[in-house]
Amino acid sequence: MAVACGDDEETGPGPSDMTESGGSSGSAGAGGEPTVAAGAGGTVEVAGGAGGEPAVGEAGSGGGGEVLEPLAARGKYLVDHVIACSDCHTPRNEMGAPIAEMYMAGVECFVELPTGECLHSRNLTNDETGLKNRSDDEIKTMIRDGIRPSATGDEALHPIMPYYVFANTKDEDLDAIVAYLRTIPAVEHALPRSDEFFAVEAPANPIDPDTIPMPGEDYPEFESAVRGRYLATQSGLCIECHTPHEQAATVLDPDKYFQGGEEFDLGLPAIPVSKNLTSDAATGLGEWSVEEIVAAMKNAVDKNGDGLCPPMPAGPMAAYGGLTDDDALDIAHYLKSLPAIENEVADMCTWPPM
Ligand code: HEC
Ligand code: HEC
Repeated sequence: MAVACGDDEETGPGPSDMTESGGSSGSAGAGGEPTVAAGAGGTVEVAGGAGGEPAVGEAGSGGGGEVLEPLAARGKYLVDHVIACSDCHTPRNEMGAPIAEMYMAGVECFVELPTGECLHSRNLTNDETGLKNRSDDEIKTMIRDGIRPSATGDEALHPIMPYYVFANTKDEDLDAIVAYLRTIPAVEHALPRSDEFFAVEAPANPIDPDTIPMPGEDYPEFESAVRGRYLATQSGLCIECHTPHEQAATVLDPDKYFQGGEEFDLGLPAIPVSKNLTSDAATGLGEWSVEEIVAAMKNAVDKNGDGLCPPMPAGPMAAYGGLTDDDALDIAHYLKSLPAIENEVADMCTWPPM
């Protein structure tokens, strides 16, 4: 399967179909189309606005009502709103809503193959079954390098955990993320080892930052677009979901950044497919205003006022609803600055507007 580093990338028995119980990018690395069983979608049944991706951070709030010191507060904002770590690390109930008391405690069978083999996400809380006994440096090595230090030999993490994006997160932001993780209340939740199918020999290659498009110098809001580039591609995950995943050590092909087409089988009546966010007029966001792009993030509506489907973590109940106005605007300017790539993505999914 994917990312087994080295010569042949297709060694595994590529599954024809997988089940993912969480929000985000299922297909990274493993073959075939992931299916989400009890996840974001599963039992949501497209009930008007109820489903989607409620902002786990608010509900479970590691920092709860308590006041966080500035570094941890920055970390909370990144974790809950820019990145949405909790969409993959918080278990959900039968209705598809995140379980507040289990905030960041890890999802059993986050990805499930038809054969029943599972990839579990991990418990990130301050419990012995979570990250309590890990040093700050060990946690950073897992988030950024995709390496899990172990007494019996380091292990590579499966690239469904998007460390190949976080490799380009600034050190100060990684420090902030770790500072925040340290404030998350302990939840005892021991997860089994993931099945052998998901073992990878080496971590996926980090995204080479030189391949990430820079806004043209003539882009009118150049500085804003440069800030947005960092949020959309080096700390946040827009690039990850909006680029089709390769079954190879380099998960995202630089020639396809932001062209859309990644499928997310959440068990909904239709399979959501990520859209082309490049500035192509006919097939991308060329005709969208920055305000319309901001509205997509904050209100989960498209240019025509139709609702956006999960797993796009948009809208007031989900991660991006809590983006600051400045950050949302910066991201929108970055997308408007992207070179056009023509790639028609069929609109497979409709969702009631929030
Ligand atoms: C798209 C889903 C997804 C997102 C988003 C995600 N993770 Fe993960 N994460 C996973 C999965 C799945 C694993 C387990 C990988 C494995 O065991 O090979 C994992 C593993 C980890 C681990 C290893 C823990 C251990 O003890 O082994 C850490 C640390 C981690 N994630 C932190 C984070 C942080 C912090 C964020 C946000 C900045 C984040 N993750 C975002 C899916 C995700
Ligand atoms: C977890 C995966 C995921 C992440 C992360 C994600 N998206 Fe999406 N996005 C999607 C999917 C899937 C759709 C299609 C939804 C639908 O069909 O209704 C979508 C739709 C959109 C649309 C609507 C485009 C159209 O033509 O209708 C915009 C705009 C958008 N995303 C912007 C962003 C931005 C900006 C970010 C980062 C801040 C981002 N997305 C992060 C999965 C994701």
